[in-house]
Amino acid sequence: MAKTVKKYTAKSADRHDLYEQSVQCPEADVRFLGRVFRTVRGRHARTLREDFAGTSLLCAEWVKSRAEREAWGVDLDTEVLEWGREHNIDPLGEKAKRVHLVEGDVLTQKRPLVDIQVGFNFSYCIFHERKTLLKYFKAAYRSLGRDGIYFLDIHGGAEAHDHLTEDKKLPGFKYVWEQGAFSPVTHKRISWIHFHFPDGTKLKKAFTYDWRIWTCPELCDLLVEAGFKETRVYWEGTDSETEEGNGIYRETKSGDNDPSWIAYVVGLK
Ligand SMILES: C[S@@+](CC[C@H](N)C(=O)[O-])C[C@H]1O[C@@H](n2cnc3c(N)ncnc32)[C@H](O)[C@@H]1O
Repeated sequence: MAKTVKKYTAKSADRHDLYEQSVQCPEADVRFLGRVFRTVRGRHARTLREDFAGTSLLCAEWVKSRAEREAWGVDLDTEVLEWGREHNIDPLGEKAKRVHLVEGDVLTQKRPLVDIQVGFNFSYCIFHERKTLLKYFKAAYRSLGRDGIYFLDIHGGAEAHDHLTEDKKLPGFKYVWEQGAFSPVTHKRISWIHFHFPDGTKLKKAFTYDWRIWTCPELCDLLVEAGFKETRVYWEGTDSETEEGNGIYRETKSGDNDPSWIAYVVGLK
């Protein structure tokens, strides 16, 4: 039987739902985080803090992945935390007891000490000043356990500096990513997510991002300055048939000068 595709329109669509479908893949994130921690530390990670948690989708996936796992999601915005509680956490039933949503600032979180802390979807790029990013990395260092690991994602390549619009068709709607002008002097760039619907309606500027585009060496240097003993960069492999990224990230010392890439920068305590 043919699968019915939900019909979205600008009036009825929920921007958090569309965001999750368009840009998040928490199953792959949990696999990657678990693999790196196990390989480096020789044990399973139990606790995770998701900074800039938004709808806390990663927290939900984390506690589903192993019975003893516990997660904290930190975000400033009550509305998005409550959306996440209703749509991602409460439906977990008993497992929901192992998720803690914290309305707070990532710059000042201290407790509890966790095995893994993440700042994903480039959210730390809202910190434009070096001293503010350093303050955030110091807070992350302090709130990790003795052998904790901190994970950030990063995007770059020549196309990160281009004024461009890309789209991706998803069931029932189109995800549109628009990058505004990039300044080579400040490395700042504003971007937007728009959603377009089959009936011609649009959710324009559903999300706006005012980012400084940080580089791998800047992040690694700041992590060391914040106290991390070692930093690593994990780079995506290439599928030999499609020549596209294969979703498998391995440690690298040099990377590839692709026009558009996503990588992970990791700080080891
Ligand atoms: C792009 S969303 C990230 C959503 C999701 N975690 C992801 O990976 O796609 C960024 C979130 O960061 C939150 N945020 C911004 N500044 C913050 C701060 N200083 N402390 C905590 N949360 C913050 C915003 O409220 C927003 O929900």
